[in-house]
Amino acid sequence: MIPLSIPKLAGNEWKYVQDCLNTGWISSAGSYVNQFEEMVANYAGAKYGVACMNGTVGLHIAQILLGVTENDHVIAPNITFIATLNAIKYTGAQPILIDVDANNWQMDLNLLEKYLQENTETQTVDNETFSFDKNTKKRVRAIMPVHVLGNIGDMDRLISIAKTYHLDIIEDTTEALGSTYKNKHAGTFGKIGVFSFNGNKIISTGGGGVIVTNDEELANKAKHLTTQAKVSAMDYIHDEIGYNYRLVNVLAAIGVAQMEQFPGILEDKRKMDAFYREQLEGVGDIKFQEIPEGTHPNGWLFTFSTSRMRELLAYLNDNGVQSRPFWMPMNQLEMFKEDIYITESDVSSTVYNNSISIPSSAGISQEQLETVVKTIKKFYSS
Ligand SMILES: Cc1ncc(COP(=O)(O)O)c(C=O)c1O
Repeated sequence: MIPLSIPKLAGNEWKYVQDCLNTGWISSAGSYVNQFEEMVANYAGAKYGVACMNGTVGLHIAQILLGVTENDHVIAPNITFIATLNAIKYTGAQPILIDVDANNWQMDLNLLEKYLQENTETQTVDNETFSFDKNTKKRVRAIMPVHVLGNIGDMDRLISIAKTYHLDIIEDTTEALGSTYKNKHAGTFGKIGVFSFNGNKIISTGGGGVIVTNDEELANKAKHLTTQAKVSAMDYIHDEIGYNYRLVNVLAAIGVAQMEQFPGILEDKRKMDAFYREQLEGVGDIKFQEIPEGTHPNGWLFTFSTSRMRELLAYLNDNGVQSRPFWMPMNQLEMFKEDIYITESDVSSTVYNNSISIPSSAGISQEQLETVVKTIKKFYSS
């Protein structure tokens, strides 16, 4: 079976892990954690990086840092991996789900703007101006764009909308390490960005995340909160409810080795993406995710639409090509059915019903790529 997305561990992973084991620095302290944080932040062009256990907890902490509580709304796209929504729910906030654009599958900014225009009002309390939802009376505090599949929507417009309505931007950039929009890296458009290094991501630490920001105070607070909010090196004194969300040194060691190889992996992913686009253009009724002007995605997980998605999915998995459907839209999941969903024609359902992801591992060989393409072409010609 050609796997969907597995990590490529071809560098110093073993050496650095062995170093941790040999020196005993396997846990929460150790130099690889700092090194990994620095490498990710530097790569993304952010001033600070704070490592954490995974992307989900990073998104949770990001919201706590920006003061999100149960009195707030956080806006998110209706098509995302569930972790985005879970992280919002952990804070007690109520999500506002926005339907997606039919072409690039990112949050539909027309719908976003329409919702904010028609349903919110601004208020100023203690010199702070914010928007609140006229119906629920909750503050609309933050917006969480998700760079779905490593692609990026119109960030200029999103930033301008966020400014108009006084929303903080937290980027769910878990899938987008290496992606750029107008030459600026994903993760650096808002106050905070969160990367994931889960096993299926472009590079991996097994499980891991890094919170990036240009704000020193937020970075220090992120470190504090993810490490049990301890205030003294000696005494067990803690000044607030903290979390044990830190990344351990042995996993950060894998991260350092992965970051060393990242430029090469990114180049391979983009070549893979170009190959699939070239080979599958015009095959059956295949439609690609549109790449907006100015966006240079990382080619993380190749996904396309076809009206024969379920049939093709079964065929590929039966013929040695591991494939997956897309995420079920959030509004269709039991836990979020009562939440606000802003839509006109439920594009999310169409994207979900038609989209399929095909093998995209960092180390996929040319031979495997050709087999995938051949199998897909065979399906459509029969
Ligand atoms: C869009 C999205 N958000 C959040 C996450 C959560 O990241 P993690 O698995 O590292 O918790 C993932 C990946 O798994 C993701 O794809």
